[in-house]
Amino acid sequence: MQIGDRTIRAGEGAVCMLSTANRDGSVFPWGDQLDVERDARRHLAFGFGVRQCLGQPLARLELQIALETLLRRLPGLRLAVPFGQIRFRPNAVVYGVETLPIAW
Ligand code: HEM
Repeated sequence: MQIGDRTIRAGEGAVCMLSTANRDGSVFPWGDQLDVERDARRHLAFGFGVRQCLGQPLARLELQIALETLLRRLPGLRLAVPFGQIRFRPNAVVYGVETLPIAW
């Protein structure tokens, strides 16, 4: 099987990194930038097709409630250290930060 310039031979495997697909510049210009108003209807964070995440309506609702509550209860929420000091987890399947010092 050919994927781009790579040949996957019988018995070999391939891992699909959905987070990387979501940064594909041909689909999402400036994909590395946070833009909450971007048209992201084609994102793959919840997978695709028949194996697509069953819990996505719940996940979307939880995130909406959590973020709205956080911003309402902690006005002035901000980073407590310069952005350059935030350490991101390397090679994580689920992307994120090691710690997130905040103040409000
Ligand atoms: C932001 C939160 C979440 C993300 C990013 C996420 C992401 C995903 C992804 C990418 C898949 C597809 C995996 C694959 O292709 O095999 C998946 C599957 C699944 N997710 Fe989620 N998920 C989230 C939250 C949840 C929640 C809250 C539930 C349940 C309460 C849930 C239940 C499931 C189930 C049952 C599947 C398997 C579906 C199947 O194979 O038919 N997920 N999820």
